[in-house]
Amino acid sequence: MDLTIHRFCVVFLIYLELKGTNCEQRFSFETRFAEVPVTHFEWQKEVRTFKLKYLINTKHYVRGGPFFIYLGGRGDIDVYSQNTGFLFEVAATFKGLLVFIEHRYYGRSLPFSNESMTLENLRYMTTSEALGDFVSIIDLLKRETFENTASIDNHPVIVFGGGYSGALAAWMRMKYPFLVLGAIASSAPMIYGSSVKNCECFYDVVTKMFEKYGHEQCVKTIKLGWEVLINLSRSKIGLDFISSTWRLCKRLSSTEDLEMLLEWLGEILVKLALNNYHYPSNFFTPLPAYPLKVFCEKLTTSFFNDTKSLVQYFGQALQVYTNYSGRVSCNEFEDQSDYLYNYQKCVELIMPKCSIDSDMFIHRPWIYEKFALECKNRYGIFNNDADWINRAYGGSSLKYASNIVFSHGELDPYSCYGIRSNVSSTVRAVDITEGSHHVDLRNPDVSDNNYITDVRKSHIQTIKAWLSKI
Ligand SMILES: *[C@@H]1O[C@H](CO)[C@@H](O)[C@H](O)[C@H]1NC(C)=O
Ligand SMILES: *[C@@H]1O[C@H](CO)[C@@H](O)[C@H](O)[C@H]1NC(C)=O
Ligand SMILES: *[C@@H]1O[C@H](CO)[C@@H](O)[C@H](O)[C@H]1NC(C)=O
Ligand SMILES: *[C@@H]1O[C@H](CO)[C@@H](O)[C@H](O)[C@H]1NC(C)=O
Ligand SMILES: *[C@@H]1O[C@H](CO)[C@@H](O)[C@H](O)[C@H]1NC(C)=O
Repeated sequence: MDLTIHRFCVVFLIYLELKGTNCEQRFSFETRFAEVPVTHFEWQKEVRTFKLKYLINTKHYVRGGPFFIYLGGRGDIDVYSQNTGFLFEVAATFKGLLVFIEHRYYGRSLPFSNESMTLENLRYMTTSEALGDFVSIIDLLKRETFENTASIDNHPVIVFGGGYSGALAAWMRMKYPFLVLGAIASSAPMIYGSSVKNCECFYDVVTKMFEKYGHEQCVKTIKLGWEVLINLSRSKIGLDFISSTWRLCKRLSSTEDLEMLLEWLGEILVKLALNNYHYPSNFFTPLPAYPLKVFCEKLTTSFFNDTKSLVQYFGQALQVYTNYSGRVSCNEFEDQSDYLYNYQKCVELIMPKCSIDSDMFIHRPWIYEKFALECKNRYGIFNNDADWINRAYGGSSLKYASNIVFSHGELDPYSCYGIRSNVSSTVRAVDITEGSHHVDLRNPDVSDNNYITDVRKSHIQTIKAWLSKI
């Protein structure tokens, strides 16, 4: 089925290319909006509402079939709907209804329209409010579909999520078991704050991926790269050289700028690792197959005689991530795209991260107070409770939970915050050998290895078992 869509898309693409656009919508949905309260927890007052976006696909749905719901995460829901093709296989297998719900504050689901991002208005950007929205939509879908109470109460709903939204899926099952039968949570960070004992894990996994796909030399060059950049930045000539060689939109002029540039660079290295899929992808940004490998090839096949040519080659390699389309005129290192997610990481989703000598990142210890202070500078909030989220959802204490699958790619830095071993017969952990970030939920591809296809088969079996018991 998907191959047909793909071929159609390719033909369509050629047609559209002529018209100067491209074919990104591989899967089609009906877009809907529903009114939901800005807060689900202040019921005494009259509460204003806003429009939450969700997408529906009925292609495989036969009335009475289960509802399969993907919970949106840190971005536009359209992006997730085009990068979670496995759900079409699930829907086809069980004749289910497919729904993708956007996470509040992302995409078009703005509680305070164009003024949603002010710090005052961001106060309703919480995981509990997001879950509240999902409850509202699921409730609405059931009421629209069924008249009698028994059907509304008993109709099976299974939720899915990848990364942050994987955690939301697991929490959804834990908090609302009467509404949600089970959750498939891929690459879900579940452990936060002081429960994270190995802050070096994240960058360690990223470094191991660069060693595996890019060879040791790539890692060495990156390590040297940080030093070269910091050295160059000591002079104005050096700063100018970096600014022009890397075509930065804004010229570097201060140490704060340099800090921002280094942070941007680190993020790109992480994203190359997160998106190191074995085929070309477009999850927030278009990338070639194995982008990390391509990056390292550009870096290691080059010959450097001096630090300046290292900066040049580094800049060219970065284009694999920043400019794969070839249409970017300058690099915006003061990147605001993660403004919202970084806010969430400051207030609720505290994920300790540190780098040590053995990884390829700039040496940085994890000092919670320093992190909290940076958050205060950025968002005006000093969070003195890094563990609220563990208390709210249990962290790794999932003994009394049920019907959750936690899948983790072996090559995914987010697995550092995940549930990696079986908790009980109904809360299970699945490892995906050679798997990258929530690869199991992506569209099945002819180039997938057996590990990935086996995990997908196991998800189908698990869902079958859940459905058979109702
Ligand atoms: C939001 O839109 C309204 C109406 O179009 C406008 O008056 C207001 O200035 C905008 N606010 C911001 C922060 O852009
Ligand atoms: C950076 O500067 C220091 C001190 O000037 C020097 O010892 C070191 O070799 C330089 N590193 C590189 C990679 O240029
Ligand atoms: C680097 O040095 C080698 C050997 O000395 C030389 O052949 C090559 O042309 C130089 N490359 C650059 C870019 O200067
Ligand atoms: C992006 O690629 C195009 C085509 O190769 C090039 O002209 C442009 O300068 C590149 N942009 C940046 C920021 O490097
Ligand atoms: C969890 O249990 C299942 C079934 O017994 C097993 O196949 C799987 O390997 C276990 N997961 C882990 C991470 O050990």
